[in-house]
Amino acid sequence: MKGKRVLLGITAGIAAYKTAYLVRILKKKGADVKCIMTPASSDFISPLVLSTLSGHPVSIEFWNKKDGTWNNHVELALWADVMLIAPLTANSLSKIAHGACDNLLLATYLSMKSSTIVAPAMDLDMYAHPTTKENLSRIAKHGVTIIPAEEGELASGLHGEGRMAEPETIAAFLEDYFAKRKDPVLGNKHVLITAGPTFEAIDPVRFIGNHSSGKMGYAIANRFLYLGAKVTLISGPTNLDLEHPELKLIRVNSADEMLSEVQKEWSHADIGVFAAAVADYKPVNRSKQKIKKSENELELTLVKNPDILKWAGENKNSHQALIGFALETENVVDNAKGKLVAKNLDMIVVNTPNDENAAFGYDTNKITILDRHNNQEDFELKSKELVAVDIIEHLKKILK
Ligand code: C5P
Repeated sequence: MKGKRVLLGITAGIAAYKTAYLVRILKKKGADVKCIMTPASSDFISPLVLSTLSGHPVSIEFWNKKDGTWNNHVELALWADVMLIAPLTANSLSKIAHGACDNLLLATYLSMKSSTIVAPAMDLDMYAHPTTKENLSRIAKHGVTIIPAEEGELASGLHGEGRMAEPETIAAFLEDYFAKRKDPVLGNKHVLITAGPTFEAIDPVRFIGNHSSGKMGYAIANRFLYLGAKVTLISGPTNLDLEHPELKLIRVNSADEMLSEVQKEWSHADIGVFAAAVADYKPVNRSKQKIKKSENELELTLVKNPDILKWAGENKNSHQALIGFALETENVVDNAKGKLVAKNLDMIVVNTPNDENAAFGYDTNKITILDRHNNQEDFELKSKELVAVDIIEHLKKILK
């Protein structure tokens, strides 16, 4: 479960006390765990215990009562590889079965992009009640996986079915879930991704660069990792970080450095996604000393950088698929089509800074995808995480 992001939802059942142990087991298995609680569940286990064991703040309310800031349930839902609700009480079960949304945990459940697994826990008559059975089959139809309650001694003193599955059972269930969930097309593929800008040195302290944040490339890397692929990410200078056992992150500065890393890695990859905003030109000479501001005018001679994507296209094997990006301001689609052919690509993702809040530096992007079969798909403005999903889904269609 190394590197898997588990969002543990805790509702107000007595079995909540076992979640401290559950968090420990999941962490020991290498998972990154964040906890989200219904307000009433903090009567059963202290958020302090869970934040200490998980190493993350615990989310409970929609907003922070001290400073008025919003707890972003959409962000939590996007972060998670899986949401695990344990224990799930009859009350919260009925709410998730019918779309109620009166606490942060429920809103997060409704915002989940990946799957939810639940471990119900309640007294035996409640568990056997037809309403509970109906609600369980209803959420199963919505794609929720249920870890059945076990038989045994219950908090009421009665004996019967309704105990939450033991933490070890839940952890084993999750481990099995991740092992089986690899994407059938991309699960074992090796993906090479370039991201971010390149910095072309003028002297020891100055460079020519651009405003690329790297967010698009990192979001694509993240999505491939989520689907079980192995990723090599060659990144220009960014403020971003990504950690995952299946990720090799290589940091570079200049286009020349990026090319030399791509040349080492490309033959090992099945898929290439070249999202980096490589500087087109670099200074011919890099001054060894800091350039003094003695003259009124300073002339810099620039020379073209290598086209890294073009090199990859020229050195592409029949089993490899290559995706490029195009940032265009005029004749957007035609120019991109030209690049698709000229660089021997299978797919090109076009974005234009003409669209508000799209492309460079923003968290959102609006893209059009063109592919080698002459298909064109236009998308709405959306978060870069969701754009990554669209790009990868289109790629899967081509690979099939
Ligand atoms: O030709 P243009 O720069 O518009 O192509 C953009 C695409 O080519 C992007 O995928 C970018 O990552 C890649 N590229 C590259 N090396 C360059 C310039 C662009 O890999 N020197």
